[in-house]
Amino acid sequence: MAKTNARKILVLSGPNLNLLGQRQPEIYGTDSLEDHMRRVDDAAKQFGLETQKVSAQSAAELVTAIHSARGSCDAIIINPGALTHFAWSLHDALASFSGPIIEVHLSNPATRETWRHESVVAPVASGTIAGFGADSYVFAVHAVAALLAKKK
Ligand code: DQA
Repeated sequence: MAKTNARKILVLSGPNLNLLGQRQPEIYGTDSLEDHMRRVDDAAKQFGLETQKVSAQSAAELVTAIHSARGSCDAIIINPGALTHFAWSLHDALASFSGPIIEVHLSNPATRETWRHESVVAPVASGTIAGFGADSYVFAVHAVAALLAKKK
C-alpha cells in the first residue's frame, strides 16, 4: 500500500468494550465495537484522516499503545471503559502525548453510579464526549479534525 502523509488517529478501546452489542444493551446499545469502528473510519475518511485501532483488556496494553503513538500518531480517541475512573497509569501515559486527546463514552457516566463520576483521564484530555451513544465516536472524530485543523 502506498504511504500517505495523512494524519493518523489512534483509537483506543478499553476493557469490556469488545463485548459491545452483547453487554448491557439497554445502556450501551446493540452495535458491536466493529460497528462503532466502521463509523469512526467513515468519519475519519471524510476529513482525510487515517486510523489505527487497539482494543485492550488491560491498562498495560493501552499504556504501551500510547507510548507507540508518540511520534507516529497525531491524535488519540480513547474510551478507557472502567479504567477511566481509576487508572492513573493511563493518565500519565496520555500526559506524555502531545497531540489532541478526546475521551469518549457511549453512556454518560455523570448520570450513573457515583464511582463513575470521576475520570482520571479528563484532566489530560483536550475534551470529553459522553452520552451520545453511537454518535459519541463520530463526534470525537469531528473534534479531532477541528483541533488538528487549528494546528496546521
Ligand atoms: C463507558 C463508561 C464506563 O463507566 C464503563 O465502565 C464502560 C463504558 C462508556 O462508554 O459509556 O465500560 O466507558
